[in-house]
Parts: sequence; structure tokens; C-alpha cells
Amino acid sequence: MHRRAFLAAGLAQSAISALNAASYERAPGASGRIGVGFIGFGLIGKRHVLDFKAQEDVDLVGLAETHRGRLHEGAALMGGSVKQHADFRRLLDDHDVHAVVVSTPDHWHALMTMMACAAGKDVYVEKPLTLFVREGRWMIDVARRTHRVVQVGTQQRSAKHYQRARELIKDGHLGRIVSVRAEAVRNVFPGFGRPPDQGPPAELNWDMWLGPAPKRPYNPNRAIYHFRWFWDYSGGQTTNWGAHSFDIIDWAVGLRKLRTVSSSGGRFDLQDNGETPDLQDALFELDRCNVHWSVRECSHGQTGSFPLVFYGTKGSLAISRRGFVVTPDRDVPPDSLIPNFVGHPTGGPTIVQVRGPQRYRTKPDTDHSGNEATQFLGHVRDFLECVKSRQQPIADLASAHRAATACHLANLSLRLGRKLRWNGARETIIGDTEAAKQLVRPYRSPWDRELKALGLG
Ligand SMILES: NC(=O)c1ccc[n+]([C@@H]2O[C@H](COP(=O)([O-])OP(=O)(O)OC[C@H]3O[C@@H](n4cnc5c(N)ncnc54)[C@H](O)[C@@H]3O)[C@@H](O)[C@H]2O)c1
Repeated sequence: MHRRAFLAAGLAQSAISALNAASYERAPGASGRIGVGFIGFGLIGKRHVLDFKAQEDVDLVGLAETHRGRLHEGAALMGGSVKQHADFRRLLDDHDVHAVVVSTPDHWHALMTMMACAAGKDVYVEKPLTLFVREGRWMIDVARRTHRVVQVGTQQRSAKHYQRARELIKDGHLGRIVSVRAEAVRNVFPGFGRPPDQGPPAELNWDMWLGPAPKRPYNPNRAIYHFRWFWDYSGGQTTNWGAHSFDIIDWAVGLRKLRTVSSSGGRFDLQDNGETPDLQDALFELDRCNVHWSVRECSHGQTGSFPLVFYGTKGSLAISRRGFVVTPDRDVPPDSLIPNFVGHPTGGPTIVQVRGPQRYRTKPDTDHSGNEATQFLGHVRDFLECVKSRQQPIADLASAHRAATACHLANLSLRLGRKLRWNGARETIIGDTEAAKQLVRPYRSPWDRELKALGLG
């Protein structure tokens, strides 16, 4: 069904379900070739154009961009007779487009994905999945109703060493995971300046860039790349880098058992007009497991090169995009670990001396196979195979929704200044009406109507 006709009909959930499911199940491109359209040609959009272009079974069909200069540059890179759109809805109307790659800022991810699904397109959508918690459930519902394949842009999952690390954790190589530490640290003091609000550049359609976000005067820092540091469009490093780390945490350990989140910090040192914290710590309570998340924007410190570490009862596994290291815990009698400077006075514990070769609770392991470029390529390939097979891609919506939820709850806790209790089954905050209200945000007109047309909101 034509997208606009579909939306104009205002089809609610039951009506969409009643659509002939078989028409949705077909793999796009009878020839086996997949027509791909791109929405957003920025830092990551450019990467995706190159990676999809490298695939033999892909036709690059169209590009939608709100920035005219980027639209032309992207189209030139794509080559051929690629169609250029200032309005992404025209790209969704194009029957030659079977799959859409959404590489826009976060505040567009959910709505564009759902509109693309409703238009019969499969979707590769960038992380973080959502801007606010409720969007994740909407996306899952729409993708299911329309029988679409959706890959989330958490490409670390497509790296062999992340897959091996997950197997080690799931197989109990580290024992029971009792704690996870993840961080995003750097020193970008004094920040990115305070340009005044001004008229948007002639080549940028600012209203279309804002889309469902509140109407605001244009500011250079709010737009290209730096949107990440403004609450209207994103959630700072906690959703930017946190989306990757919490994705792996959910995959390897599971966030279904998330019970509470508490977070503190603020934007204390950066001297720019950004809003999200430059210092943030968050503690997540799972089932007998704590996850500790840290953001430091103004102090890199002598941190290790691993942004994510899993601690188990037998040893730990530290991982980055380059590889991982398993460090076994020594297997020694507990009494041998009691301090013993010059002996304890009478009545003190008996110190056990360890003799013989050192024993360990698990085996050491290292993997240095990680390569960022192949992670992106592998993720694109996984998506394309799933477009053909109609199988669930490696980075599925339900897991990305749990990961994004954890990040959003940390930000909510920080902004409200209190600990939040989470009911994962009902996807709501327990005993805090004010906080629960913030699980959803309004879409600005006319984009609220697109949501209603999907039977949501
Ligand atoms: N998977 C990864 O490793 C990775 C890496 C970088 C960025 N990302 C994610 O990708 C997204 C984009 O980040 P970026 O750094 O590329 O940002 P960017 O600002 O460089 O690019 C975003 C582009 O989207 C365009 N855009 C905005 N609204 C649009 C609309 N309505 N229609 C068409 N185009 C529109 C903008 O003009 C801009 O060119 C973010 O959500 C980010 O988190 C993921």
C-alpha cells in the first residue's frame, strides 16, 4: 500500500494487522538486488553510503538530506542517477527503495523508522534507538505489525571478538557476573563555544531538521554533530556511547532484571552552550549484579584502554573495539588474603601461606582481532542477509530498547535528582508519577499526526 494512502487512511493497529501479511513478507527485489535509500548524510551516514556501496547486491537509489550541500556531496559519492530528496517522505514513497538507512540525529530515529516500516521498507537505524523510553515499544509494535526487518546500528555485535566474549560470559568462563563497569571518558575542556542563536544557513532546512522536536531558533551547536549535547535531540554521552556499552551489557548479561537506577553529575566545567552532563555516574541494580557507568568530559585520567569490563566470580573480561583480555582471579584460600605485616597479636586469624604453583579460578584469554571498519561492514552484511531471509538481525529492536531505556533512566535520575525504581515487565517507573510522565514526550505538529496515523501516541 502506498505510504501516504496508508497514513491518510489513519489505519489503527487492528487495521494494519489485517493487511495482507504475505505482501510484507516478500524479500525486496525480485532480482535479489536490494534498493537502498539513505536518510541523513553526516559523519555516520557517509560511512554507511560507502559500506552499502561496497556490497554487490545493493543498488543505491536515493538520499534525503536537510542540508543541501550534504545532499549534493552524498549524491555525488553514491554516483549514478541517485534520486535526491529534501523531504525524506518522498524517499519513502519510492517503490525502488526496499530498505532505508536512518543516520539522522536521535530525535528522528523512532519516527522515521516507524514511517519507513509503514511504507513497507526494512530499516537500518542508528543508535541510540530512541530519544525517550516509550518510543522503543512503539517501534517494536510497528515493526512487528508491518513484518519489517530492523537492524539497530550497534555494530560492535558484528565483531567476532565481541561474539566470542559474549560466549565466554554466557558459558560461565568468568563465573557469575557480579559487576559491570563501563565508561566514556575524554578531556574536551573548554568545550565547543557559545555561538549566538541566529538565522539558519541558507542550505539547511532547519524546520525539517527539528522535525518532531520543539521549535527553537537555529544555533550552530544545536545542529550538525553537536546536537548530542542538547536534551531536545539526544542524551549526551550516556546515550551516545552508553548505547554501545549497554547494548553489549544487555546482550551478554541481560538488562531484563534492571530494578533501580540512580545517577548524579552535571555540566560543571565545559564553558559552552551544551546542556548534557560533563560529569555523570550512574549505578544500575540488576539481579545480584551492579552496573556502574561513568562519563567524564573534562578529565581523561589514567584510564585503561577498555571502556567496558565484566567482573565475575572467577575473573574479569575487559573489552574494547580492538579486542579483549580475560584476567583470571587467583585461586587461593581466603585466609591467605588477610593482611599480615608482622603477624597478628593473640586471638588474630591464622594466616595461611600459599605454597606450590599459583592456581587460577579460570583460564586467561586474549583477542586482538578487533577492527572498526570490518565491524561496520559485517553489520551491514548481516542486515542485507536478513532483508533477504526475513530473519531477525543481530542487533534487534527489543534489546536496543532495553539498552536505550537504561540510558534514558540514568539521565532522568540525574535530572530529577533521585533514584528510580523500574518495572521492566510493565515498562514503567514505580511510585514516582512525575518521573513516569517523562517516559514519553510530545511530537511537534505536524509530526504528531504521523504518530496518530500509526495508531500510536
Ligand atoms: N554506530 C556508530 O558507531 C555511530 C557513529 C556516529 C554516529 N552515530 C549515530 O548516528 C546519528 C547521526 O550522527 P552523526 O554524527 O552522523 O550526525 P551528523 O549531524 O553529522 O549527521 C546527521 C545528518 O542528518 C541530517 N538530517 C537531520 N534531520 C534530517 C531529516 N529530517 N531528513 C534528512 N536528513 C536529516 C543532518 O542534516 C545531518 O547531515 C546519531 O544518532 C549518532 O548517535 C552512530
